[in-house]
Amino acid sequence: MSAQPQRIVVTGGAGFIGSNLVDRLLAEGREVVAVDNFDDYYDPTFKRANLAAAERRAGFHLVELDIRDAARLGTLLSEWRPDAVVHLAARAGVRPSIERPALYADVNVAGTAAVLQSAVRLDPLPRVIYASSSSVYGDRSAVPFREDDPCDQPVSPYAATKRACELLAQSFHHLYGLPITGLRFFTAYGPRNRPDLAIARFADLIEAGRPVPMFGDGSTRRDYTYIDDIVDGVVRALDRCQTIHLYNLGHSRPVALRDLIRAIGEALGREPVVERLPEQPGDVRQTFADIGRARDELGYDPRTHLEEGLERYVAWRRMRGERPE
Ligand SMILES: NC(=O)c1ccc[n+]([C@@H]2O[C@H](COP(=O)([O-])OP(=O)(O)OC[C@H]3O[C@@H](n4cnc5c(N)ncnc54)[C@H](O)[C@@H]3O)[C@@H](O)[C@H]2O)c1
Repeated sequence: MSAQPQRIVVTGGAGFIGSNLVDRLLAEGREVVAVDNFDDYYDPTFKRANLAAAERRAGFHLVELDIRDAARLGTLLSEWRPDAVVHLAARAGVRPSIERPALYADVNVAGTAAVLQSAVRLDPLPRVIYASSSSVYGDRSAVPFREDDPCDQPVSPYAATKRACELLAQSFHHLYGLPITGLRFFTAYGPRNRPDLAIARFADLIEAGRPVPMFGDGSTRRDYTYIDDIVDGVVRALDRCQTIHLYNLGHSRPVALRDLIRAIGEALGREPVVERLPEQPGDVRQTFADIGRARDELGYDPRTHLEEGLERYVAWRRMRGERPE
């Protein structure tokens, strides 16, 4: 197996993290097959715009496919014979998973099983990198979160599906020797931000001069991690995946919700108006990554501070407003 996979299938390649990863891989001269079904979780035209830059580059291929269609997925992998699969396709979002648990289980768990089953039919075996989430840690007060902390108390169906993916990964490694790496992402933000995530929603509201809902007293903390740092961690994991691994990819500098709202206002040059609301079910009080393992084993070194990341995000929003990508 070459040190650097050159032909890579990226599921969820039109999404926020996926499309940023696709651009990075293409810039490095690698070949990418993006797989996406452009689901309706948020506006599919937003996802198509995410791929506009990739579509202008050599080595990019797009296949519209639902990962739950195991037969088509198997055919796709056997035709392309990738040396790696980065599996990011999922139903994301914590709160909507409470309303639609069966859908989340289907896409995230059955979909991941289909990806893994298609992967193990290839000879040689590809490496598989898959998205997990900080939500697997549940509502813990002991911080920072370490990969070997117990993760058996998810507080939302979404978190439960992500933990299930980790257990599936373990079983496929045991049965087939599949080289596989799970990445627990901690709240990614930046250009192409998912529109349902807090930073994008708050920025929209502040720009419209409308109140920003703050659930609880504003003391909940999230370990916001800039998208380029996340993508850098994914590429490092991809190039080093040999056996079975699991890493936190966070920034390790949690920020309180009230400070986040203030920082977004500063980046936009507008004073936010805050509306206090009760805490939401399914939310955890804090996320905070211990990134020691990723630092030691991958050389992962997130460098983008929140203020700088928000500045870049706001610059992207303004550019998008003038000239959609
Ligand atoms: N963004 C974050 O902060 C964050 C944090 C933790 C974990 N994650 C995980 O990272 C991954 C990427 O997240 P994102 O923020 O880029 O989300 P996203 O919604 O922007 O991207 C997911 C992509 O998967 C596609 N997809 C959904 N169901 C599919 C299916 N059945 N078949 C094919 N494609 C399908 C969607 O159309 C979308 O383009 C997800 O697995 C998510 O759970 C993200």
